Amino acid sequence: MTQPIIRFEGASKSFGGQVVLQELDLDVAPGEFLTIIGRSGCGKTTALRLVNGLLAPDAGRVLVQGRDVAGCDPAVLRRGIGYAIQGVGLFPHMTVEKNIAYVPSISGLDGWKGAERREKAAGLLKSVGLDPDLAGRYPRSLSGGQRQRVGIARALAAGPEILLMDEPFGAVDEITRGQLQDEILRIHERSGITILFVTHDIGEALKLGTRTLVLEAGRIEQCAPPSQILQAPATAFVEQLVCRSREFQMRA
Ligand SMILES: Nc1ncnc2c1ncn2[C@@H]1O[C@H](COP(=O)(O)OP(=O)(O)OP(=O)(O)O)[C@@H](O)[C@H]1O
Ligand SMILES: [Mg+2]
Repeated sequence: MTQPIIRFEGASKSFGGQVVLQELDLDVAPGEFLTIIGRSGCGKTTALRLVNGLLAPDAGRVLVQGRDVAGCDPAVLRRGIGYAIQGVGLFPHMTVEKNIAYVPSISGLDGWKGAERREKAAGLLKSVGLDPDLAGRYPRSLSGGQRQRVGIARALAAGPEILLMDEPFGAVDEITRGQLQDEILRIHERSGITILFVTHDIGEALKLGTRTLVLEAGRIEQCAPPSQILQAPATAFVEQLVCRSREFQMRA
């Protein structure tokens, strides 16, 4: 592997007495689309938050572009890492355009004022399949799927090299979900951005991922390309997940 863009080096995290991540070792190469799946509470969100420094490991390290997250300026680190979450978390009192421009503006990035800002926001809206005319609207006047797309546009605004997505398509209908999946695949292909994508849907994990990480109780069950997960599940737990995805395919 070329130098990993993200490296977990024996990273452990506990809350109170509860061990949530246990000596996680994982390298993510630049341009990978890593999907992360596992039961509720197995440590998926915790793993993402170690990458953008919202949480610090109790033991071990997490490196981003070769640098220990613990020693990075959080503001600089997070400018390079987009974060899109379920429920989106748009600012309700800001227009779509202002929401999108928020991170670049507070970071003082050039070209995020007046007409230039409008143009950039319009470009991002188009890239997530939205009409640029939505720029002046407020989040409350958007559908759930539109809000989700604006959340992705916002996460992409500062031109990050890494995109963390935590169940970003959880709250939309199946058709919109399929469209959002195709859009994120296009964005990934076009930009070469590295994506860590948490999902509860094994079908989604296998469709989107160049590799899929299966976590159980804070440990890696398997981390492999989807074809390998399907053909050679490493553990009984992964086998079960795969069986469930076959059931879905059969019913579809
Ligand atoms: N800040 C916190 N304080 C205390 N406990 C926490 C905190 N954050 C997470 N936990 C606990 O750590 C465990 C793992 O949480 P995490 O959010 O990583 O799970 P998850 O895999 O993302 O689950 P889900 O699929 O439900 O989102 C859970 O038991 C959770 O209650
Ligand atoms: Mg979570």
